[in-house]
Amino acid sequence: MRSAKDFFAPLAVGAPAPVRDIPARPSRAIHFFDPSNPKMAAKVPGMVGTVDVLLGNLEDAVKADNKVAAREGLVKIAQETEFGPTQLWTRINALDSPWVLDDLTTLVPEIGHKLDVIMVPKVQGAEDIHYVDRLLAQLEAKAGLERPILVHAILETARGVANIEEICGASPRMQGLSLGPADLAADRRMKTTRVGGGHPGYLVRQDPVDGNIEGERATYQQDLWHYTIARMVDACAMHGIYPYYGPFGDIADVVACEDQFRNAFLLGCVGTWSLHPKQIEIAKRVFSPSVEDIKHARRVVAAMGDGTGAVMLDGKMEDDASLKQCLVLVELAEQLAAIDPELKKQYDAIEVSE
Ligand code: GLV
Ligand code: MG
Repeated sequence: MRSAKDFFAPLAVGAPAPVRDIPARPSRAIHFFDPSNPKMAAKVPGMVGTVDVLLGNLEDAVKADNKVAAREGLVKIAQETEFGPTQLWTRINALDSPWVLDDLTTLVPEIGHKLDVIMVPKVQGAEDIHYVDRLLAQLEAKAGLERPILVHAILETARGVANIEEICGASPRMQGLSLGPADLAADRRMKTTRVGGGHPGYLVRQDPVDGNIEGERATYQQDLWHYTIARMVDACAMHGIYPYYGPFGDIADVVACEDQFRNAFLLGCVGTWSLHPKQIEIAKRVFSPSVEDIKHARRVVAAMGDGTGAVMLDGKMEDDASLKQCLVLVELAEQLAAIDPELKKQYDAIEVSE
């Protein structure tokens, strides 16, 4: 057993003190780039300020022959780029791979002062986070880092889903969780072949009219990821960390991508991955509260005075609980306005009526 008091003690002598709260830094789109791809790498400095998070991917989608080039490419990009308000994250290789130890022992000393979050794929349980937690503390101490690097787990195994609460609470470094629908589908033996998104076969059908099963009956496609995302949202909220949707592989289908992102946003996610510049714009739009929602939320805040009791607005009852929902949106709008001047202009122009 470990004393609760020790939870916030550094795991290595000289390592920075663990954080007590995970800062609510906007991260609507986590844009993945392959640092071993010179064309992609060259675009990174120009993307600073256009996206909330730039993530150098070292894991899947980077060929085995390119693993070293990706790691070295990321070091070079990070050293040469001033990231300003844009966060720098990386996705390291899986903990059972031959590359991950070199990923961590290279990245932390070389660019640890610039890395905000390390995404760990295929996390199975709290033991995976404990391993990374201690190793990071040792490397941070050795490198003389002044702030701890945060850890983000990708949920992409059935065991990871079963252990979700323990994973989220395994370390004060835990920043959030992303859904890894492609690996999760394979691990669960789902019968899909896509990277995220829905499937036309996963549906419900209207009852037969007058017993005619062959007659016209509407069907409604269902969300394959609803259960997992809902679990992620609860586990993250319980531990004060942040849930994210993950990859949407059908880059051309910007409409379905937007729907998938919006479902995640409405359920409680704060952001998503972007695999193509097109998806950055979608994510920024979807994961920013609309002007209409902020207008309504501010109206409720104004009408509710000290925050207790109930008022009627447009025939609808508002009370302490609907006020709390409105405050979630208003706070998010403030955080986003602080880093997004265009959004700030839109929110500032809102006039709240009685
Ligand atoms: C992402 O890594 C996925 O497996 O979907
Ligand atoms: Mg994966």
